[in-house]
Amino acid sequence: MRLPRPTTAGAALLLLAAISQPAAAAWQTIGEVTRVERAGNAVVFATAAGSALAVTLISPSVVRVRMTPAGKPAADFSYAVVPGANAGISPVVVDAADRVDIRASGAIHVVVEKKPVLSIRIYDGNEHLVVGDDPARPLAFDAADGAVEATKLRPDGELYYGFGEVPLPLARQQQSFAFWNTDAGNYPPGSGPIYQTIPFFIANDFRAGGRSAYGLFFDNTWRSHFDMGARDPARYSFGAAGGDLDYYVFTGGTERSPANVLRDYTALTGRGPLPPLWALGYQQSRYSYTPQAKVEEIARTFREKEIPADVIYLDIDYMDAYRIFTWSPTNFPDARKMLSLLHGEGFHVVTIVDPGVKVDDKYAVYNSGRDAGVFVHDAGGNELHARVWPGICAFPDFTDPKARAWWGGLYAKSLAEGVDGFWNDMNEPATFPAEDSTVPVTMFDASKTFSLDVKHAGDGSPGTHARYHNVYGMQMARATNEGLHKLRPEQRPLVLTRAGFAGIQRYAAVWTGDNIASWEHLALTVPMLTNMSVSGVPFVGADVGGFNGTPSAELYTRWLQAAVLTPFLRTHSAIDTEQREPWTWGGEFERINKETIELRYRLLPYIYTLFAQSEADGTPPLRPLWFEYPRDAKAALVDDQYLVGKDLLVAPVMQAGSTKRRVYFPKGDDWIAWWDGSRHDGGTSEFVAAPLARLPLFVRAGASVPTEPVIQHTGEAKNAPLTIVIAHGGNGASRIYEDAGDGYAYRKGASRTIVVTQGDAGIELAIPANRGFQRVAALEIVGLDAAPREVKIDGKPTTARFDASTRRLHIALPNEAVKRVALAK
Ligand code: GLC
Repeated sequence: MRLPRPTTAGAALLLLAAISQPAAAAWQTIGEVTRVERAGNAVVFATAAGSALAVTLISPSVVRVRMTPAGKPAADFSYAVVPGANAGISPVVVDAADRVDIRASGAIHVVVEKKPVLSIRIYDGNEHLVVGDDPARPLAFDAADGAVEATKLRPDGELYYGFGEVPLPLARQQQSFAFWNTDAGNYPPGSGPIYQTIPFFIANDFRAGGRSAYGLFFDNTWRSHFDMGARDPARYSFGAAGGDLDYYVFTGGTERSPANVLRDYTALTGRGPLPPLWALGYQQSRYSYTPQAKVEEIARTFREKEIPADVIYLDIDYMDAYRIFTWSPTNFPDARKMLSLLHGEGFHVVTIVDPGVKVDDKYAVYNSGRDAGVFVHDAGGNELHARVWPGICAFPDFTDPKARAWWGGLYAKSLAEGVDGFWNDMNEPATFPAEDSTVPVTMFDASKTFSLDVKHAGDGSPGTHARYHNVYGMQMARATNEGLHKLRPEQRPLVLTRAGFAGIQRYAAVWTGDNIASWEHLALTVPMLTNMSVSGVPFVGADVGGFNGTPSAELYTRWLQAAVLTPFLRTHSAIDTEQREPWTWGGEFERINKETIELRYRLLPYIYTLFAQSEADGTPPLRPLWFEYPRDAKAALVDDQYLVGKDLLVAPVMQAGSTKRRVYFPKGDDWIAWWDGSRHDGGTSEFVAAPLARLPLFVRAGASVPTEPVIQHTGEAKNAPLTIVIAHGGNGASRIYEDAGDGYAYRKGASRTIVVTQGDAGIELAIPANRGFQRVAALEIVGLDAAPREVKIDGKPTTARFDASTRRLHIALPNEAVKRVALAK
């Protein structure tokens, strides 16, 4: 379903010719502009092919283009966009004979050429071209099957990142791929589509000095595709099997920076809310921990071995024959007792809840769903039945507000029993072949979901599964999230989802599904998770150790290190694999795994601060190097390192048997090794030692990173004093965020932000009054070659402890009133 690729010169004529054959099932462009009108904030163009195109400035750095092939736009409705976030601003419009200029003064400038076919160019406030249509075939559609496609010119050297969850290398130039949420367990690197659809990318041209970032979001829920120059490096295209060509371009503002692009994209599609602190601790899962006594034993072992952990997951076997919202009477005879015992040990518990509701007229959930009329119906009007874990199931239509409300209410029972969080799986939606089927099912088989003509309510815009498939999982996570908010408004929910669409960050954390216990899959986690992050989804993680297959002791230990500072940290393993807890391999491995998880807990105050920032401005905790260093061409393709915030650089070992690795230190900052305080110049590459026990970790010179002592779970955080680690030899200010760790009082001011500034005169602290938060107890300056001659706190000499082997100077603070700490050489 793509346009033929004529040469640029011949293309316009060829496509114009196509317009004159309306009966042919073929691509056509929308033709030349026949009329221009204002409609509220939009400028609307009618075209020769009978199409309509509306251009709306959303803000001084965002424009929306919506093309409706048949000319009459349907209701303006989007699951991705936060209601009201695309209302737009009033533009300045100049309508000339051959073109229309649409501007926000001093900022975005959109040029719409009227002839020979409508085409669009977008400029930033400095009149630099952001992105322009391929004039040969700017916007096209196929009237016969409803497909739409846009084509843009691609400057040589422009790279693309984001696109949510795609198991491909870091940058997506000259790649092509599709979006259709698919239960693609064991997905081979380079394959797809897998579980999520996020048709958003950030472009950056490093050769242009890094002032050229922009973003594009294609808001279309149908099966969609992107070709980022695979067929022709001079152009890229995107399109879908139906719907409008509805897309947003983000210019990146005056700085043309990736961070601005993401800020604007998340202003449109929403930001990941601050999770409860416990959800940032270490999480242990398995398919499945059963029976009850086993779960209790796992929890006890963590505490006995003093390996910190916060969450235990119960996979499908906790249920009674996989009926959701039930417990197995044989394996979990007293779930409430188990849950209260686990709570007593400082654990939170998350249960899996799949969408399939077993068809069984003795099952209360099914009966209530059927009576409430919330299940999906097929094209013939019958309740859709398909096989999943429990056998034949019915499926809630999560695009129906009534079904979402019903679904949300079901969690009341689980909350009353003591379950803390919920894991929504199989929500692509995934179905199994009929029991008697003899047709082999392949990984990306179309039969693995509902048939395309199944009916959905579409929140008042009814449509088929072909239209709503890609939002099913997101609307399920939304129903869960909204239900939890309603049932327990004072607590922050943890919802984990496998499927999603753009905007999923508003409702859930995301994990990358059924990966494999291989070094190759470990390496894939960095490009996958960082690309998810820059696609607006801050709370992401991959199953540690790889879901399918049993990792070697070394692979698990390295995987845990690689994952330990990723936002969502969970070990999970498939039913037919060997046991997998941090202690499974004993001896040296157990000791190292324990230390690795301890590192997570030491750095939790920093990770928490990053989530607060992410809620405020959309900047994700996990960042690819290019995101912070868009002018450093050497950072552009680094796919085996990542940044946590802007201050920590992680270079995990992801090759069997390696005990050293090459690290690239991004240009513009110097980097101090976390473990020994050695200094590394920005813009250089170096081999660093990485024995099995060591995760290569660096802190940006000038940064101040809050740490806490090792605790066993986040319930102990309140009384754990902070030590602020300050990387010597750079100037800068860092902010440290604190609040109660759960609830919403922080939105009414119950939080504080500590500012630490490193300058030539020393270290300045601005510590606001403490209203029950973790107190600041010490500073630790890392990267000093020798002990200073003298340390002064607010002008008074004090004693400090220097450790030459780690180049760390420990300075205990007498209280939080300290304003300045100075070192004399
Ligand atoms: C799916 C999930 C996996 C889970 C399993 C059983 O494969 O992706 O995480 O363990 O189902 O529920």
